[in-house]
Amino acid sequence: AVQRTFSIIKPDAVAKNVVGEILTRFEKAGLKVVASKMVHLSEKTAGGFYAEHSERPFFKDLVSFMTSGPVVVQVLEGENAVALNRELMGATNPKEAAAGTIRADFAQTIDENAVHGSDSETSAAREIAYFFAESELCPRTR
Ligand code: CMP
Repeated sequence: AVQRTFSIIKPDAVAKNVVGEILTRFEKAGLKVVASKMVHLSEKTAGGFYAEHSERPFFKDLVSFMTSGPVVVQVLEGENAVALNRELMGATNPKEAAAGTIRADFAQTIDENAVHGSDSETSAAREIAYFFAESELCPRTR
């Protein structure tokens, strides 16, 4: 079924100037951008987004990294978009990511791993709503 998923191109990838290359991977795989903006996250916004990780030992570093520079937040739409995006990204740890995936090609460490993608349709709905108003989503049905 056609799904929407939420994607972040993280500060490391923006700093490396590979936003376009990452976007091309999404587009070539058939995912369509239905919303997109560049933002420099505040601590409050980054901490709220990753609230489920707030008790994890890496939380402080995660928030610090995600607020270190601008990110691109996007909503991607397509057949099986949640799983497809996760396949394109590769494993969370770039050292374990399959060859040819975004994280294998553009990231070196688990802390600075180039992209985030929703892990389920439920997360996608919550994450999309966290960053975008319904009126900012552009239907791509043609
Ligand atoms: P992301 O998909 O954005 O979700 C949370 C992020 O925390 C994750 O990608 C990693 O970049 C980062 N992180 C750092 N250490 C860990 C860890 N041990 N397990 C999972 N995520 C981690």
